[in-house]
Amino acid sequence: MTSSTSTTAVPQPRAEWTGQIGFIISAIGSAVGLGNIWRFPGVAYENGGGAFLIPYIVALLTAGIPILFLDYAIGHRFRGSAPLALRRLAGKMGEGIGWFQVMICVFIAIYYTAVLAWAASYFVFSFNVPWRDDATGFFVGEYLQLSDAPFTMDFVPGVLIPLVLMWVITLVVLGAGVVNGVQRINMIAIPLLVVGFLALVIRALFLPGAAEGLNALFTPDFAALADPGVWVAAYSQIFFSLSVAFGIMMTYASYRKRRSNMTTPGLVVAFANSSFEILAGIGVFATLGFFAFQQGIGIDELEGLTGVGLAFMTFPAIVAEMPGGPFFGALFFGSLTLAALTSLISILEVVFAGVIDKFGIGRKTAAYGLGGVLAVISILLFGTTSGLVALDTIDNWANNIGIVASAVVMSITVLWIRRAGRELSGHLSALSTFKVGRTWLFLVSVLGPVVLGYMLIATIIDLINNPYGDYDTTYLLFVGWGSVLVMIVGSIVLTALPWKFAPDRFTPWPPLDSSGKPAASETARSGRPADIEGGAR
Ligand code: ALA
Repeated sequence: MTSSTSTTAVPQPRAEWTGQIGFIISAIGSAVGLGNIWRFPGVAYENGGGAFLIPYIVALLTAGIPILFLDYAIGHRFRGSAPLALRRLAGKMGEGIGWFQVMICVFIAIYYTAVLAWAASYFVFSFNVPWRDDATGFFVGEYLQLSDAPFTMDFVPGVLIPLVLMWVITLVVLGAGVVNGVQRINMIAIPLLVVGFLALVIRALFLPGAAEGLNALFTPDFAALADPGVWVAAYSQIFFSLSVAFGIMMTYASYRKRRSNMTTPGLVVAFANSSFEILAGIGVFATLGFFAFQQGIGIDELEGLTGVGLAFMTFPAIVAEMPGGPFFGALFFGSLTLAALTSLISILEVVFAGVIDKFGIGRKTAAYGLGGVLAVISILLFGTTSGLVALDTIDNWANNIGIVASAVVMSITVLWIRRAGRELSGHLSALSTFKVGRTWLFLVSVLGPVVLGYMLIATIIDLINNPYGDYDTTYLLFVGWGSVLVMIVGSIVLTALPWKFAPDRFTPWPPLDSSGKPAASETARSGRPADIEGGAR
């Protein structure tokens, strides 16, 4: 027990998913998000097309899945949100990394909700296509009413109302708890998303020009593989898309039952996420092929093939031109809304589980109190006429610096300093059908930190030498680097605050034998204190 612990109060038992399916569906709900639908197709296209699949698969196998397993092992064995589980594993340094992951989620949640709100608005708009003549003008002019000022207090009701609504829905779901809120919404939303998105892809494949679109996406440019930037793009894409290294999978794994197959569900989640991503690439590029065909131009002459441009400028323009466009638009924006909502829930769960575990507050207090504060910040930034540039900037720094740095520092602390590799691989393999061993240890403790460390340094040098997005350098200093500074300072302050419950009065679950029962030598130690299970419900 540390001196910073203020009480010996006993927390509530920790929440648990009702079973493996509830966990897998919720984890897929987290992984499949904006990263899959609006980022992957454009990133693949810009980074070598079909050849991008090589670094993408290498990144998935060498870092995505191994670090996903690392997140699972830590969250499950040490039964806590990122700060609590990492604290139990690696002391104050570990806790600081956990809070850094929480802070990344705070920043991502603030802009992710804005995109979710835009997607929900465009789902409704799809039925009467108000941008018929000028999709880009409608988005930046009529809908967002963008101004050049970096910060204004001029609210735009058309954005404000859906933004408030999305925050309310998300916080109500999170306030309802892990099973009654998070698991329930995923069990409804994910099947709907799969059916809706499959319908969209099948429709897209029958559009004239679809084949040219797919050729543009999949024609390999092998020369791109010599560009380190392409590899950096593949690793960043995998991390964000698979929700690893920023606390989500650790938190979700902490709600698994004790006797859980750890690795096989992880493989299901990882391959489901990548399949969805590739499906999104096919759907989006088949549709872009149609758009280029309509105008009699090549795909390479189109603009806005990724992110905001793709979803809110190019796609609406296509919807306005195609037969059955409103239905197609509703499928696209409906899918984007469901995918973003279930991911946002997981991002905020990291934040709420962290404060519930540390400060012993109730789930509803966390969701409505802290969630309310985050909602106000998000509304001030994105419900007004400023914000698009802030979104792009924070997104870049949170992903390419924040998440990658978190993965590197976490691997080094846990595997090199705390030397927990064998303990964690034993935990992962105990009841899993897919066992992990030396290869996994090598990937997470050697290859991962080396490759990601290189990537991080290369990205920092690049961002210093080439101002991101050609934005003003002072602006980038405050909003981009400033965000990372706030994440670091926030994690130091949160680590220094006292715990409501004793975080270290904890014994990791003893090993189980192959039948799932505590190993004979361990049964005598089963009388652990009640408070070891505690935390977020
Ligand atoms: N994994 C989530 C996404 O892809 C965060 O958007």
